[in-house]
Amino acid sequence: MTTRIFVPLDSASVALGADEIAAAITAEAAQRGVAVEIVRNGSRGLYWLEPMVEVETLKGRIAYGPVAPSDVPGLFDAGFQSGADHALSQGLTEEIPFLKKQTRLTFARCGLTDPHSLQSYEEFGGLRGLRNAVKMTPEEIVETVTRSGLRGRGGAGFPTGIKWNTVLQAAADQKYIVCNADEGDSGTFADRMIMEGDPFVLIEGMAIAGIATGATKGYLYTRSEYPDAIAAVEQAIVIARKAGVLGPDVLGSGRAFDMEVRMGAGAYVCGEETSLLNSLEGKRGVVRAKPPLPALEGFLGRPTVVNNVMSLASVPIILDRGAEFYRDYGVGKSHGTIPIQIAGNVRHGGLFETAFGLPLGEIVEEIGGGTLTGRPIRAVQVGGPLGAYFPPSKFDTIFDYESFTDADGLIGHAGIVVFDDTVDMLKQARFAFEFCALESCGKCTPCRIGAVRGVEVIDRIAAGKVDGENVDAQIELVTDLCETMKFGSLCALGGFTPFPVVSALTHFPEDFRPRTLKQAAE
Ligand SMILES: Cc1cc2nc3c(=O)[nH]c(=O)nc-3n(C[C@H](O)[C@H](O)[C@H](O)COP(=O)(O)O)c2cc1C
Ligand code: SF4
Repeated sequence: MTTRIFVPLDSASVALGADEIAAAITAEAAQRGVAVEIVRNGSRGLYWLEPMVEVETLKGRIAYGPVAPSDVPGLFDAGFQSGADHALSQGLTEEIPFLKKQTRLTFARCGLTDPHSLQSYEEFGGLRGLRNAVKMTPEEIVETVTRSGLRGRGGAGFPTGIKWNTVLQAAADQKYIVCNADEGDSGTFADRMIMEGDPFVLIEGMAIAGIATGATKGYLYTRSEYPDAIAAVEQAIVIARKAGVLGPDVLGSGRAFDMEVRMGAGAYVCGEETSLLNSLEGKRGVVRAKPPLPALEGFLGRPTVVNNVMSLASVPIILDRGAEFYRDYGVGKSHGTIPIQIAGNVRHGGLFETAFGLPLGEIVEEIGGGTLTGRPIRAVQVGGPLGAYFPPSKFDTIFDYESFTDADGLIGHAGIVVFDDTVDMLKQARFAFEFCALESCGKCTPCRIGAVRGVEVIDRIAAGKVDGENVDAQIELVTDLCETMKFGSLCALGGFTPFPVVSALTHFPEDFRPRTLKQAAE
């Protein structure tokens, strides 16, 4: 009997040696005369266990990890090909608490299937959403997405159905779907995981968006730092085209939709939708003033849906299971599930998809398992480099859009970066300004000049911490500068940089305070 062994192909696992492990298993099996079939799957998102190898048994898949190539002979000796026990055994994959506690809707297939097998995709429920969509009118599709309560997962949380409706209602000879796969936020990897681990779900979501809005052409915009994701999506596009999922007659519906991948050089601001559109048009990635909205005048001046990977990849299940099914997950105005990315100094870093509504503390302390260093958590930054820092006293904040806004923070792309008690929050505040200065597109003054002045003022505070002078005046200056950037910037790069700075100042004021000369000398 041939044993199926799953070795992930996603770039994080490959960076950790997954290719070598696949080769070692193949060689070892041949030498021992054991019949194995290696399936390269997407990552399950349990990154502290990667490369995590799974063996298919009658009881289910048994996981082993983290595996090194040198572990392979020992695994065979122990009989892992029949699911036997071994020091690296994690038991049944589905029973691993980190996975078992999740509600996987968007990531339902990621890690289960061969990402390049359309047949495997369909066996696990793929294409059911698109098959339903092609039988509906565009208005019905848009209405379903609106009713599901899906909000943009790229950062702003704007209702996806409303955006689609604007594009549907716009009259134009050509409309576009643009998938924002720039994924520039620190500590985020959900978009990459889907592109590498289940690209068909994204293609299906884009095709549904096209049919819903009358857009016949789609572009996936991502950065050059994602070569594996680009290759995976491009390969999936070719397969989907051959199978009639993309092309002039989507699933025999008589409606057309096709797409291609476009690569940017990798600038944080090119994730901002108007800057992205400029980059896509071959121009410099500078932010455009709004209005006009991209939904009315987007790519090449035509009505354009710009949606994040997660937003589009969540659409197929909504069209498959219905608006109410999706809407019933979550809390308040945050419906459905959110793929949270746990990173930084944390024991169990990875992808955790769950319904909105968990307290932040539960996510980082229980699910994430606290810090990797074993030291106390001092701060977590939520929502990328423009997100606020939360101290443990704020860990009761519920993970949903409104609760985070009320707590002077933002969810952003749902990335969480954990820091232990050795973090210097003054340095983190400086980093926020420095990041903004480096990544600013330069179009507006509060951001272009403000971020540079911010670095200077923080440096003066750092100096004042030692000589004990002038700190209060500098802190007042920072606060004032943050107000100007918040209200005067054209886009959220300058407008949100105050979140990390002000939250650091508010929750960790001691890091900005002067120490006596004696203490400093110590
Ligand atoms: C500086 C900046 C960077 C951004 N980066 C991204 C990004 O990498 N990916 C993304 O989807 N949205 C990003 N956004 C948000 C986009 O402008 C836009 O709101 C989003 O693509 C809309 O899709 P959604 O409604 O599906 O979230 C960024 C915004 C700003 C201001
Ligand atoms: S806030 Fe910064 S990135 Fe945004 S438009 Fe102004 S200069 Fe450009």
